[in-house]
Amino acid sequence: MTTPDPLLQPFQLKQLTLRNRFLSTAHEPAYTEEGMPKTRYRLYHAEKAKGGIALTMIGGSAVVSPDSPPVFGNILLYKDEVVRWLGELADDVHAHGAAVMIQLTHLGRRTLWSKADWLPVVAPSAIREPAHRAFPKAAEDWDIARILRDYADAAERCVAGGMDGIEIECYGHLADQFWSPATNMRDDEYGGSLENRMRFSQEVVQAIRARVGGDIVLGLRMVCDEDWEKGLTRDEGLAIARRFAAGGDIDFINVIRGHIDTDEALSHVIPGMGARLAPHLDFAGEVRAATGVPVFHAARIQDLATARHAIASAKLDMVGMTRAHIADPHIAGKLAAGREDDIRPCVGMGYCIDRIYFGGEALCIHNPATGREEFLPHVVGPSGGARRKVVVVGAGPAGLEAARVAAARGHDVVVFEAAAEPGGQIRLTAKLGRRREIMGIVDWRVAQCLKQGVRFRYNTYAEADDILAEAPDVVFIATGGLPNLSFLEAGDDLVTTSWDILSGAVKPAGTVLLFDDNGADAGLTIAEFLAEAGSRLEIATPERTLGPEVGGTNYPPYFKSLARHDVTISLNLRLESVARAGNHLAATLVNPYDRSRRIREVEQIVVEHATLPLDELYFALKSGSRNRGAVDYAALIANQAQESGPAAGGYALYRIGDAVAARNIHAAIYDALRLAKDL
Ligand SMILES: Cc1cc2nc3c(=O)[nH]c(=O)nc-3n(C[C@H](O)[C@H](O)[C@H](O)COP(=O)(O)O)c2cc1C
Ligand code: SF4
Repeated sequence: MTTPDPLLQPFQLKQLTLRNRFLSTAHEPAYTEEGMPKTRYRLYHAEKAKGGIALTMIGGSAVVSPDSPPVFGNILLYKDEVVRWLGELADDVHAHGAAVMIQLTHLGRRTLWSKADWLPVVAPSAIREPAHRAFPKAAEDWDIARILRDYADAAERCVAGGMDGIEIECYGHLADQFWSPATNMRDDEYGGSLENRMRFSQEVVQAIRARVGGDIVLGLRMVCDEDWEKGLTRDEGLAIARRFAAGGDIDFINVIRGHIDTDEALSHVIPGMGARLAPHLDFAGEVRAATGVPVFHAARIQDLATARHAIASAKLDMVGMTRAHIADPHIAGKLAAGREDDIRPCVGMGYCIDRIYFGGEALCIHNPATGREEFLPHVVGPSGGARRKVVVVGAGPAGLEAARVAAARGHDVVVFEAAAEPGGQIRLTAKLGRRREIMGIVDWRVAQCLKQGVRFRYNTYAEADDILAEAPDVVFIATGGLPNLSFLEAGDDLVTTSWDILSGAVKPAGTVLLFDDNGADAGLTIAEFLAEAGSRLEIATPERTLGPEVGGTNYPPYFKSLARHDVTISLNLRLESVARAGNHLAATLVNPYDRSRRIREVEQIVVEHATLPLDELYFALKSGSRNRGAVDYAALIANQAQESGPAAGGYALYRIGDAVAARNIHAAIYDALRLAKDL
């Protein structure tokens, strides 16, 4: 007899039976419409339910009061109309056998006054949160009374909307801003002693219980140690957890360790690529032992072995795998079906969370179907039509996705790749050791392709005749690009590209000027690589800040490395030309504001200016294709097939990814999925 998998054992939480141990913790994907969790929001959570999850926690930071305005599309729980939308969502999730709870909060100082109703931001004391930048007012007695009422009203709406439970957010938000000595300087009954600092959160719990009764599951997602010299200590955090547990009003604790008032601090609470796996798991186990209440926890538990260990070793009752479910909402189902290898891995890129701020919606870097469930499939099935011959040129992310999806449609797929290995630019990025996990995007696709019979021809620089010899029905040109040096007025033959360095073709020199006119991860990756390799480095960029396209959870590790190596950062400088200067190179840099010029003499000048498409093959094949390479954008946007009916002879030709224009991994994979899913 085989031992049952601990992850697949049910868990009884009060009257609620959770079918296994998988939990998606609260995270606001910013999919609300007018602050309501409508169709997009519902389908996103229903997909996890379909995929077998036991419990999905919706409403990352769903707000209870108008003076807690949404900073990233939060659900507005202070509006009655929310009940209807919660109800539809709950029904859909329940229909697929999962439970659904909601996290509610008052953001306190962690928001902006310039949103929604332009009310002043409120906090225990008038201390600014660096990350969101509002200068708050200190809460008065009438603020506290009103917010307590708002919590109770919001909880009532959640119960009316069919939620199976409620979680109160107590890390970095109003409730625990009262706990923390870093944010509470009050000298009234809400400040000073731990008992006083706990008063507000206890009143919140009591107000909610008084309104919704004792049966509904109620828990705290709470910081039990701010890990911060001026913050809540571990002893105080554990004391708060014990007091709530002993009070009997709460049914679970969802453990957080760390503080989130700066991007750097947040990157330890939501650790990304290169960070240690499950860094706070042992601590969560200590909270469980100290309180005796069921414990939930999430922080970079990305693989099933770690998750299994968390349950088997009794550190957790429910294991949060939140970004893991953003990458693949079908984890539990695949595990139960013995298809663990098919789980699309979360590689910790943090694109999902960073985009709620700068893109307005969470998207997974390598699962374009997430958040687009209404239009795009998470599972691609066979076409049911004739088997077609599909030729893909290029085994970077775009080409691999096209091959994977075309093969899943049941077609005969061959991939030509000029290099000896797949991956394209992803393989270069992975040369920075801290980011090697990014190869999961490539490895998962290659494994899926091989399982489905895709043939790979490496070391093959395909010409038009090679493609035509395959008698293809469909050709995908995913040849990527080559480093763009076209902007230089002189000296492009003297500079080194970031690719030269990362590929190992050129060694980093002693003194290096890096010109980054990309502003994205590529620039910071090569900067960190050069700094770690020991180069004395100056980064010049025409931007007003370094890496403007790199999001809040991603830039701190880069900046830490650059600071450690004392890298010089020079803003507002554009590289104009490069010339020889003895055995050195001279870079002419122009300030675009006053047109002043300065010369830097160094041993090596490295340029990161994205890529220009490698498109010769596409243009060689274009005139012979039946669509002349054209993409029907109307059909693409409507998620419809490019060609209706049987193929009319010859081949259809599609150019995808950076072979069209320099973009990012998500864009490349999205191109491929949209075009290949209807083949
Ligand atoms: C897009 C996104 C939004 C998030 N928003 C919230 C939130 O509003 N409230 C919260 O408690 N946690 C939030 N989180 C944190 C997650 O709940 C979780 O703690 C974090 O992703 C670490 O767990 P993981 O490694 O399993 O992803 C968010 C995470 C993501 C990815
Ligand atoms: S974007 Fe990155 S961190 Fe977020 S779910 Fe996708 S792979 Fe994971």
